[in-house]
Amino acid sequence: MTSILQYPLPLPPILAHPSSTAPLLITQGAEALLYKSTYLLPSLPCALKYRPRKPYRHPTLDTRLTKHRILSEARLLLKCRKEGVPVPSVYAVDEGQGWLMLEWIEGEVVRVRLNEWLRWRREKGTAEGEEEGELRGLMERIGEAVGMMHGVGVVHGDLTTSNLMLKSREHAEVNDHAEGGEENLLAGEVIIIDLGLASVSRFEEDRAVDLYVLERAFGSTHPRAEGLFEVVLEAYGKSFKGAPIVLKRLEDVRMRGRKRSMLG
Ligand SMILES: Nc1ncnc2c1ncn2[C@@H]1O[C@H](COP(=O)(O)OP(=O)(O)O)[C@@H](O)[C@H]1O
Ligand SMILES: [Mg+2]
Repeated sequence: MTSILQYPLPLPPILAHPSSTAPLLITQGAEALLYKSTYLLPSLPCALKYRPRKPYRHPTLDTRLTKHRILSEARLLLKCRKEGVPVPSVYAVDEGQGWLMLEWIEGEVVRVRLNEWLRWRREKGTAEGEEEGELRGLMERIGEAVGMMHGVGVVHGDLTTSNLMLKSREHAEVNDHAEGGEENLLAGEVIIIDLGLASVSRFEEDRAVDLYVLERAFGSTHPRAEGLFEVVLEAYGKSFKGAPIVLKRLEDVRMRGRKRSMLG
């Protein structure tokens, strides 16, 4: 029995829209360019991560490396999605052309929001320690998100406050009755981005190094928030079964880090 297909076949809206506007360059990193594009649908922006050819690299090696990195990032994002870890969803991949198309996260990276918040607190004349609830809340959500990722076996490889985003809530909830006061700059869901250097690992050591890198990032980028890093670790410690062993391991990693910096 063959069934007769009805033409035209229904298309999902995402594929039906003929037009798209020019993409906007958001950042230019050492390896990748990140564009915001409405290629799919005017109402559905996406993040296009593009790894252009490196003219100084051997062409065969360059193609192989680019393909590997794009496929690896896509694969790990999918793994995280599948297991409920907060990362952007993957819309499309073309490893041959060197790009990855992701869900656009409306919001800002934690580095930017946190610095804005710290400045706001300083300008208001608030003493350190006050308004701490908002900061604690963010630190907790960071610890939980990182713990979820580690809990499913994924190690990030470049965990900094530039690779964590805070997703604005305006777009998710229309009827959010803000209670008249100032909005909390640190509100929003923590989304982990940039899995370009991520991998699957079963070693506690790798997870501990992730935490160490994040701790150092807080120390150098937001020294005024560093004191609350323990809140990240506390939330992390409760987030998956193996977390306490990782925290123990972190102490060794710190020790080695200190020795290394003493040796110069
Ligand atoms: N899915 C996304 N939605 C919105 N902005 C994003 C998204 N992914 C990345 N960005 C922005 O682009 C920057 C660079 O992206 P990232 O994946 O970190 O690439 P790189 O490897 O160059 O660091 C991020 O710091 C963030 O500001
Ligand atoms: Mg990055």
